[in-house]
Amino acid sequence: MAHPVPAQQSVPQPSEVSPGSPASSGQRLHLRRPDDWHVHLRDGAMLKAVVGATARQFARAIVMPNLSPAVTTAASASAYRQRILSALEPEAAVAFQPLMTAYLTETLDPEELVRGQAEGILTAAKLYPAGATTNSAAGVRDLAAIAPVLETMERIGLPLLVHGEVTDPEIDIFDREAVFLERHLVPLLARYPGLKVVLEHITTAEAAAFVAEAGPQLAATITPHHLHINRNSLFAGGLRPDFYCLPIAKRERHRLALRRAATSGDPSFFIGTDSAPHRREAKEASCGCAGIYNAPFAIESYAAVFEQDGALDKLEGFASEHGPRFYGLPLNSDGIILERQDPASEQAEAVPLTLELGSEAGSPLTLVPFHAGEALPWRLLA
Ligand code: NCD
Ligand code: ZN
Repeated sequence: MAHPVPAQQSVPQPSEVSPGSPASSGQRLHLRRPDDWHVHLRDGAMLKAVVGATARQFARAIVMPNLSPAVTTAASASAYRQRILSALEPEAAVAFQPLMTAYLTETLDPEELVRGQAEGILTAAKLYPAGATTNSAAGVRDLAAIAPVLETMERIGLPLLVHGEVTDPEIDIFDREAVFLERHLVPLLARYPGLKVVLEHITTAEAAAFVAEAGPQLAATITPHHLHINRNSLFAGGLRPDFYCLPIAKRERHRLALRRAATSGDPSFFIGTDSAPHRREAKEASCGCAGIYNAPFAIESYAAVFEQDGALDKLEGFASEHGPRFYGLPLNSDGIILERQDPASEQAEAVPLTLELGSEAGSPLTLVPFHAGEALPWRLLA
């Protein structure tokens, strides 16, 4: 299916480069190796296609459990972790640590989480309000139904990762995150004051302010795409399924608030790419899937934002320090190097328009990466 406007022309240009930005071509930026605190690695052929991109950039990744069927037990998380490691080249598998999560359902036995944490399998548990997003039908309808699970998590120090959107069809899709804060998050934090909570992939000024003002109990992940696109991007030159994800991108003022939060140095905010690959045919369809595949150029995407906002000195905290501190894990000891390129130069390397990554069920597996066709100012050196 042809788009009326080629991707590289209509990708929205982020805000102006900061006058204070010192970077020049060839300059290098050394960072402690980052972690991705929210990623969808899928399973089967798709897992094989995408896991290498995440392992190339990140030392650790919090792996989302929304497979079909969902990962709801310590045993299924352990088996999934093994499939993730087996899908990697041996050297990559040694260096990469998938951190597993359990998908909360209303019938989950809290002892499952106790066991999964004690055995070193589970790092967190994920709350999907039923029907909020991809493969969330088995999620939670009523928080009261999982009270024993939440009490247990609070007691054992297992973080709760929250997809923070109400599913009430009466609520406008652009308001679902803000309404979730009032209706569910405020009471949840009050009821379980010792529970560590990560509000995942925040998309609104309200959520950024809420997290900044909350105590150390609450943190938030921010995706690269919500720092680059706003809701107009979904319609720039035609319908743009590659920019469709949940929570959906909001107005420009929200994007700017997220950029201020990410680049502020506040330890409550850290990387969570929410890289969520769907094959091209599933995106470009009359009922296309939600999810943006940003893993191959994730750190480059964040680096572009921090450079544009004159905050490259804050990138390492956001990318590599705030997350482990919140989770109580050690900082990574190795590093990565990013090299500056002039995105306007003819030699600049652009993000491929599509990635052909093997095949699935006999047909080629094609993914469109975030920033397709665009040259970014920083490149990760191998
Ligand atoms: C995710 C997916 O495809 O699994 N999609 C998305 O748009 N982010 C699910 C999710 O994190 O909401
Ligand atoms: Zn996600």
